[in-house]
Amino acid sequence: MLLDELVKIKEDLLKEIQSASSQKELNDVRIKALGKSGLITSASKGMRDVSPEDRPKLGALINEVRTAIEQALQVKGEKFEQEALNKRLEEEKIDITEPSKFGKVGALHPIPDVIDRLTDICVDMGFSVVEGPEIETDYYNFEAMNIPKNHPSRDMQDTFFITDEILLRSQTSAVQAREMEKRKPPFKIVCPGKTYRNDSDATHSPIFHQLEGLVVDENISMADLKSMLTILMKRLYGEDTMIRFRPSFFPFTEPSIEVDVSCPNCHGKGCNICKGSGMLELLGAGVVNPKVLEMSGIDSKKYRGFAFGFGLDRTAMILNSISNIKSLYKNDIRFLNQMK
Ligand code: PHE
Repeated sequence: MLLDELVKIKEDLLKEIQSASSQKELNDVRIKALGKSGLITSASKGMRDVSPEDRPKLGALINEVRTAIEQALQVKGEKFEQEALNKRLEEEKIDITEPSKFGKVGALHPIPDVIDRLTDICVDMGFSVVEGPEIETDYYNFEAMNIPKNHPSRDMQDTFFITDEILLRSQTSAVQAREMEKRKPPFKIVCPGKTYRNDSDATHSPIFHQLEGLVVDENISMADLKSMLTILMKRLYGEDTMIRFRPSFFPFTEPSIEVDVSCPNCHGKGCNICKGSGMLELLGAGVVNPKVLEMSGIDSKKYRGFAFGFGLDRTAMILNSISNIKSLYKNDIRFLNQMK
């Protein structure tokens, strides 16, 4: 009797599963069949009342019914899930070909871009980045850099004076003196920033940018400076860049050098960017004059230093093939758009 009843329960349940029209209805059938006091669960409990001979047969049938119901529930459940997913995909469909309203992506201006690139390379080499004031005293900008008042070497860097003693710094070298007074060697610093000079033509602007580097330690020499600058230049302009060191003069370094690199546009052959020479002048550098160390309170018998100063506008112009320095300051959106 119980067996026939079970077969009937199975058929009824399968029909209900078939006709369920939502997850909720399906769940109700699941509880009705397999819940704590569900039909199949109760049938299992009913085994107790059946004679031992009939038990295996009944047990097998209960298992068969349970498996059939579980399978049917699963198949129908998956069907509902798939339908729900399809519905969501349909509703949330985005037209990726539709033009965006916020399509304009900005880019860094060439100057901050070059500052980021150079300082990143220097930080990799163990330098700390520091900044100093743009409105500077005559002392830090000139005198502490071994450029006394009324000395002819001041002619190289005429700047804007606010009073006799206060001026717009003409070189980031001023930060050298400030940091040497504060720090105990050994140290390695770079200082990027704005600088000012009474100069204006296609390659000079009254406001421009430099990045100064300074290393103070025992037993360092011109060889360290040259190898460091070689690595720096190759990382900035590429491994195949040729580097040339020329003797030069700065009041605060002795010996002093100027550094040229092969033109990244023509690789040394000569083009309009390097004005046919194949090389571009990029920075001044040298071994810090012992007088400069002493003025800042560093024992020049024990310590030596080397320093280098980049013109960043020039570097940005070379990296972006810009021919007039004024383009960097005009804020012309057509020019800036090309910098992406
Ligand atoms: N300050 C120098 C200039 O502006 C560049 C420089 C820096 C040279 C450091 C030597 C060492 O011309």
